[in-house]
Amino acid sequence: MSDKQSARSGYFKGERQELGLRYAYRPEFVPLLLEYLGAAPGMRILEVGSGSGFLSRLLARSLPGAWLVALDTDREMLRLARRIQEREGLVERILLGYGDTFELPFADNSFDVVTSHRLL
Ligand SMILES: C[S@@+](CC[C@H](N)C(=O)[O-])C[C@H]1O[C@@H](n2cnc3c(N)ncnc32)[C@H](O)[C@@H]1O
Repeated sequence: MSDKQSARSGYFKGERQELGLRYAYRPEFVPLLLEYLGAAPGMRILEVGSGSGFLSRLLARSLPGAWLVALDTDREMLRLARRIQEREGLVERILLGYGDTFELPFADNSFDVVTSHRLL
């Protein structure tokens, strides 16, 4: 990613960006989110533009046996996501990687659910 692209996404960097999300995604909202996504335990779920990984972590915690893949084009965000995953013991549940939404490195039908959250 170029410096220009990185600067554009600078506003969203850092863990502080998740403070508002933690408030919005209160526990009572999570079942509605899962229903909306059609996500269930054991599914293979892809999140594109995953940023710090808030949504993937929420899904991993909420869906036993689900396997998450979280892709982003910003390596700094991927490093932040990895740090949070390590701290929350979710490294084994979520595969983080560099990946462009417009050039997904997966065959069709590799996932049960594909989602994104605030992807600009
Ligand atoms: C506004 S942030 C949202 C991050 C996270 N989904 C959230 O809701 O907190 C948008 C993210 O999309 C990523 N992004 C932008 N274009 C992308 C693309 N073509 N493929 C994958 N990720 C992309 C950015 O690097 C950034 O981390």
